[in-house]
Amino acid sequence: MPINPELKRALHNRVRFYNDLGIYDFYAQPTTIWKETPMPVELAVAMPTSKPNPAEALRLIREDIGDCTRCKLHLQGRKQIVFGVGNPNADLMFIGEAPGADEDIKGEPFVGRAGQLLTNMIKAMGLQREDVYIANIIKCRPPGNRTPERDECDTCSPFLMRQIDAVRPKVIVALGAIAAKTLLAVNAPMSELRGRWFDFRGTKLAVTYHPAFLLRDPRQKKETWKDLQMVMKDLGLTLPAKAAE
Ligand code: URA
Repeated sequence: MPINPELKRALHNRVRFYNDLGIYDFYAQPTTIWKETPMPVELAVAMPTSKPNPAEALRLIREDIGDCTRCKLHLQGRKQIVFGVGNPNADLMFIGEAPGADEDIKGEPFVGRAGQLLTNMIKAMGLQREDVYIANIIKCRPPGNRTPERDECDTCSPFLMRQIDAVRPKVIVALGAIAAKTLLAVNAPMSELRGRWFDFRGTKLAVTYHPAFLLRDPRQKKETWKDLQMVMKDLGLTLPAKAAE
């Protein structure tokens, strides 16, 4: 019997959500699910029919994270969890690598020097920081700002996936190679990752340089601006008058 497309989509999303949590095995219970219409009560309850309120969804994710001790970073000097910030209904989401020292103190992503540059990049697109949503691959500062390790990314990323599902941005911008490679599960140089679109679980994803890299090599700002213009075009954003001159 054909499955109602809305139910199929809801089931698909639910399975993906469990996969993100590392759950792959499902056991079928003898049930009337596939035979009867209307939908059995227990499934109708499990499958929300309307989009949940993104702000509430984000609040619940933050609550689930709690004072996280799931990976070793909680023993390695992190002060607090850096969840994410911005508009829960944003069309545009930026994803960085991991909190640094300033973010660890403030509990907010991208608030240090690299964060100031990201804020300026957002402004150059004609937006305010409050218009977009900003998060990182992992939510705790690695000691000495080292690169996040595989187990840390694997443990933390289900929460990022839920944040993405809650915000449902039209476009994701991965900031830097670590964010891009982790999200896309590819091992390619930036030269192959930039300047094109990827499909990330049904959402368009572009890659650009990490602002911290741009602080070290400002010559790459020009290339970054090209990436941001590609994103602006897709979102129908026009250049601020000054930048368009
Ligand atoms: N670098 C990142 O990748 N994320 C931050 O939040 C700050 C610096």
